[in-house]
Amino acid sequence: MSFGLGRGRRLDVAPGVVGVEHDELGPLPDEILTDPRAGWVDVRALFETPERPLEIEIGSGKGTFLLQQAALAPDTNFLGIEWAQEFYAYACDRVRRRGLANVRLLNADATEFLHWRAPDQVASVIHLYFSDPWPKKKHHKKRVVQDRFLSDCARVLEPGGELRIVTDHDEYWAWMEAHFARWAASDSAAPDRPTFERLPFDRAQSAGADELVGTNFERKFRVEGRSFHACVLRAPGVERG
Ligand SMILES: C[S@@+](CC[C@H](N)C(=O)[O-])C[C@H]1O[C@@H](n2cnc3c(N)ncnc32)[C@H](O)[C@@H]1O
Repeated sequence: MSFGLGRGRRLDVAPGVVGVEHDELGPLPDEILTDPRAGWVDVRALFETPERPLEIEIGSGKGTFLLQQAALAPDTNFLGIEWAQEFYAYACDRVRRRGLANVRLLNADATEFLHWRAPDQVASVIHLYFSDPWPKKKHHKKRVVQDRFLSDCARVLEPGGELRIVTDHDEYWAWMEAHFARWAASDSAAPDRPTFERLPFDRAQSAGADELVGTNFERKFRVEGRSFHACVLRAPGVERG
């Protein structure tokens, strides 16, 4: 497979193994119009050892967090979802060179994947680090954190699973806080809405000294002297019919 990179450049990517081929997911069926579960895939079965816990990283960029964390947690499977083909291919190559059998990457919009493809209670952790802030108001709809996204996370996470978030961006953080206030507090206006428990962020096991997670963007922003916002939202133990 090769990806177009613009200006006539092509990048060759070996199929399968690390990169999830879209054939593995199959087409999104028309039935999703009436049954939102019709497109669900067994995400755990994308790995050789599907019985292991699954963690998903959204916007995995060049894959630095996955490389570091997956090496320390060989009994956990990691799916990185990255929509930029160039970063996806770069991260696949790094994972392949390290020989990490517990990491796969998917080139897709993670919010659409969670909404249409991910079944209930499939992931123990969802990582979202330095998500693009889309600062212009007309682009706010492109931000990953939205009400639908938090609803999907509450559904896709196992009971007690964690959505882990770090950002440097003050205004995007304020936006997140406004959303968390609806999803991490009992809301008498929406009594059926699942409620996350909001917790302080505990550093990733693979983070270096003075780091929270040790992603490329964290390291870049630390050098620039920026400060960070972070939290963990713990999923409720939802009763499902
Ligand atoms: C600012 S970078 C951060 C990368 C990495 N998490 C880090 O901290 O170094 C944000 C990444 O998220 C990706 N991204 C943004 N929205 C996405 C989405 N909806 N689905 C998948 N990837 C997304 C971007 O392409 C980019 O690589």
